[in-house]
Amino acid sequence: MRESFLEFVTDPSKKPLPRWIAVSVQRMNKDSGDLLFRGASGLLVVSSDPANPAVTTPREDVTLACANFELLANASGIATCWCGYLGLVEQEVPGLVEHLVGVPAGHPFAAMLFGVSGIRYPRGVARDGAARIVYC
Ligand SMILES: Cc1cc2nc3c(=O)[nH]c(=O)nc-3n(C[C@H](O)[C@H](O)[C@H](O)COP(=O)(O)O)c2cc1C
Repeated sequence: MRESFLEFVTDPSKKPLPRWIAVSVQRMNKDSGDLLFRGASGLLVVSSDPANPAVTTPREDVTLACANFELLANASGIATCWCGYLGLVEQEVPGLVEHLVGVPAGHPFAAMLFGVSGIRYPRGVARDGAARIVYC
């Protein structure tokens, strides 16, 4: 995944990368941080075909699918992190997601990283006053 990403975005026939992507690439190349994939072992990309007449809410569909995956993964002890960054890079380097996982350019997608967590995250759920529920 990382090699494929680096190969595609650093193709000399493409326009120069914006600084924020170039910095990520540089750090990945130097093994000094993986701002895009966060060192995760897996990447889930869910896409939808907006031209399919049966699909009325393509963006919501892909987001909800990832959110459900996140709940399932976390309940099974697998750590997750949304990868919204991939969508931002795709805007600058169109065709990247097609190159990585075969999702055609222009198709809505959502991406989620998953794997074994590198840290234990002690924060609990803040219940006090976090929501106001009115029962009627
Ligand atoms: C739509 C969306 C896209 C995100 N994209 C990224 C991303 O590209 N990289 C990243 O490190 N975190 C990203 N995040 C944040 C993490 O998934 C996570 O929500 C954040 O680290 C807070 O952790 P928490 O869910 O435990 O509060 C994104 C979150 C959302 C909701």
